[in-house]
Amino acid sequence: MNLVSIAQEISTLREKGRYRCLRRVSTPQDAVIALEGRELLNFSSNNYLGLANHPEVVEAFTEYARKYGVGSGASRLIGGNMDVHVELEEALARFKGAEACLTFSSGYLANLGILDTLGSPEATIFSDELNHASIVDGCRLSRARVEVYRHADMGHLEDLLKASQARRKIIVTDGVFSMGGDIAPLPDLTELKEKHGAILVVDDAHATGTLPPQGRGSADYFGLAGEIEIQMGTFSKALGTYGAFMCASHTIVDYFINKCRTFIFNTALPPAIAGATMKSIELLSRHPEWLASLMENEEIFRREMDARGRKIYSQTAIVPIPVGNDEDTMAVSRRLYDRGLFIHGIRPPTVPEGKGRLRLTLMATHTADMVKTAARRIDEALKELEIEPY
Ligand SMILES: Cc1ncc(COP(=O)(O)O)c(C=O)c1O
Repeated sequence: MNLVSIAQEISTLREKGRYRCLRRVSTPQDAVIALEGRELLNFSSNNYLGLANHPEVVEAFTEYARKYGVGSGASRLIGGNMDVHVELEEALARFKGAEACLTFSSGYLANLGILDTLGSPEATIFSDELNHASIVDGCRLSRARVEVYRHADMGHLEDLLKASQARRKIIVTDGVFSMGGDIAPLPDLTELKEKHGAILVVDDAHATGTLPPQGRGSADYFGLAGEIEIQMGTFSKALGTYGAFMCASHTIVDYFINKCRTFIFNTALPPAIAGATMKSIELLSRHPEWLASLMENEEIFRREMDARGRKIYSQTAIVPIPVGNDEDTMAVSRRLYDRGLFIHGIRPPTVPEGKGRLRLTLMATHTADMVKTAARRIDEALKELEIEPY
């Protein structure tokens, strides 16, 4: 391996302002975190409801680890299928109003597996241009033809569907877009997939636990739960644990148990994670006031920014603050860090060239004062650095 060229690539990343490095957090993923020894208001976590460190979730984790041990020992088909995995899938199917459910070890693996299993050289996948990287990689792995449609552009999607002769058509979209915070137009997508005989796959990584009325995902938000073939979601965000699931019909789940490589050739979820996730789902149903607090914080932030002449278009807990080039994006993020706020700057390739942004995430556990402080300091930082957002 040519190590010189690797070192050169790193230098190029530094020169372009694209170098990334890891920073150490020494507290739970709370509204306030200690990052490299500094206490900061945290607006960079997907722990939307505070479940990642909720005492009852921690207790469930401990209890299941005592009962089943730490590792699951094998893949599900080989012998790693414990009671708790089955119970978790039953709980999820009930939660989503679906016939059946299958869990995966991560959202990334779920998306790779779903698209690889459905796709083939005879299939075409129609994918929103702003879908998550794991969907992009799932498309690549599937060896299907891939048609990327302009973001949420239903006219463009319909043109592509009409022109396609594929034997199997698969439409895939984020439910809530991970970098833009906007909600996919599921009523239109459902209509189009019906009209063109396509399978619709929705990734609810960021819609699970965060969308009204009950945090059951984007399909439920639109009253379409029974109409979408595959509803995928993750445990790693609002549910506060780790892993992922897909809810679908018995037939589809059965097919995946037999065909899906990221399910078949992967060790089952650790039982304590499965047990803790069941507790998160139960708590989410028992505490509707958490989702209400999250939505209240979203509203406060939008109002505070609006009052400063900065219109916020996001209707969810993910709020992009447009900045522009890489240098400016990181300068604003650093300035906020100096003022006690942790808000990540997002640069290409995660977002398109010139569309650098802060990605602020709200949590139910932020106080109104914290949210107001964030709005005020963001506005000040943008003014001080004389940044005119795109
Ligand atoms: C939309 C979306 N899908 C999938 C994933 C991958 O999920 P996981 O982190 O559980 O692998 C993420 C998050 O990282 C995501 O934002």
